[in-house]
Amino acid sequence: MTCLTCVCVCVCVCVCVCRSSELIQRALMDNDFMKHLEHGQILTIMDCMRPTSLAKGCCVIQEGDDGSTVYVLEEGMVEVTKQGRKLCSIGPGKVFGELAILYNCTRTATVTALTDIRLWAIDRQGFQTIMMRTGLIKHSQYTDFLRSVPSFQSLPEDVLSKLADVLEETHYSDGDYIIRQGATGDTCFIISEGQVKVSQQDSATDELMEVKTLSKGDWFGEQALKGEDVRTASVTAVGDVTCLVIDRESFKHLIGGLDDVNNKQPDSDEVKAKLQAEADFFSSVS
Ligand code: CMP
Repeated sequence: MTCLTCVCVCVCVCVCVCRSSELIQRALMDNDFMKHLEHGQILTIMDCMRPTSLAKGCCVIQEGDDGSTVYVLEEGMVEVTKQGRKLCSIGPGKVFGELAILYNCTRTATVTALTDIRLWAIDRQGFQTIMMRTGLIKHSQYTDFLRSVPSFQSLPEDVLSKLADVLEETHYSDGDYIIRQGATGDTCFIISEGQVKVSQQDSATDELMEVKTLSKGDWFGEQALKGEDVRTASVTAVGDVTCLVIDRESFKHLIGGLDDVNNKQPDSDEVKAKLQAEADFFSSVS
């Protein structure tokens, strides 16, 4: 097998920039581990990618090595093997080599060029800097946003910061159901952009009654955080909506700590602070 470092020839190829950009963008958005990247992150990664060509038979990635590069395959085919066993073949428009960089582990598989191939590559440092920079900006935006929501204002700064770490951003289009009445759920939603409509089915007439409209800074689904599984109303998006979502387990862990606390005497300052934060929190949302 030919080794990447000895035979790899990095060639600056003149390609149609537009077509390659589209291919890289689609490849990143198609990858399970990268599809949640922000548009801005994708553009920055695209900017930092450099073209490389390798000959048929080259070992692009060796299982067990320290990873230093993430690739997008533009032309040709590669084969992925693990401990000598074939896992799959990959064709143009796919990302590979992302796992070792994203999870800071050694290469999980070997990737070999089945044909002459053309790749786009970004090095670990460039990739991680982009991820970290945008991650930090996001974290600071979420913390600022949480601080501006009245229900969260009584929470200590370190709890706000941890909450910001576990929030997931979700997006909806006009008419999308975010929550369905009667369904089970364990997540709570804070609206960061847009408006939602809350409606309830009248049990006598089956008629859907609009209860209220909520907008930026409002939130819904909080009963789930107290342990209620069944949704008492439906919530639908009015236009484009962005929500920040937190699940019951993370919430309990960060704010309530009920599981920890229930079995203990609430005599430590830490337990008292948690119970107080939780009481303040629920009194402000009920
Ligand atoms: P990484 O572990 O950095 O290097 C080897 C790459 O092979 C890995 O990232 C993935 O991109 C890819 N890979 C590993 N396992 C599989 C699999 N089961 N199917 C497809 N691709 C894989």
